[in-house]
Amino acid sequence: MDRPEQDRDAILGALANLTHGVYVLGTRRGRQMTAMTAAWVTRISERPPCVAVAVREDRYTHGLILESATFSLSVLREDQVDLATHFAETSGEYHDKLLGIPYGLSPSGSPVLLDCLAYLDCKVLDTARAGAHTVFIGEAIAGESYGPDYPLLYDPTEYEEALS
Ligand SMILES: Cc1cc2nc3c(=O)[nH]c(=O)nc-3n(C[C@H](O)[C@H](O)[C@H](O)COP(=O)(O)O)c2cc1C
Repeated sequence: MDRPEQDRDAILGALANLTHGVYVLGTRRGRQMTAMTAAWVTRISERPPCVAVAVREDRYTHGLILESATFSLSVLREDQVDLATHFAETSGEYHDKLLGIPYGLSPSGSPVLLDCLAYLDCKVLDTARAGAHTVFIGEAIAGESYGPDYPLLYDPTEYEEALS
């Protein structure tokens, strides 16, 4: 049964207080690379080291993660809001968002930004459904951090155009 609208608003208001970083989620189909911005990402286990990422099923990236069973997370620095906007405002179905962005390949072959705070390379261990999202549980099989800077924290007011 649907919740009354005021309950839903209250729940969404409370959820807005959860803190998130901002990441560029990379994956591939064969040698075709793609990436999108993701904030619904969290660490969930240390042994094995695992993260969970929620990707809406209509994202182009969604099908490619299902096919390749691998993804990477490039952790953005606090000065990289523009990159987060870039990877959110168009779809990889129609645009090569990685064109002109320096990137390398993770050990499992996903694109990783060369200029970021850290990266993780993950293989999909399991999936779960949550409404229109698939939660991909990824075991980190490689990772690196590059600096003492602060990570970018998700602030929806910075993405009003990209999210509209
Ligand atoms: C800051 C920010 C965080 C986002 N986080 C997510 C997310 O966690 N999951 C998701 O499915 N979409 C998220 N999005 C939306 C996707 O980045 C956006 O729809 C993107 O264009 C999808 O690209 P694709 O079609 O190439 O996969 C986010 C957008 C922004 C601006």
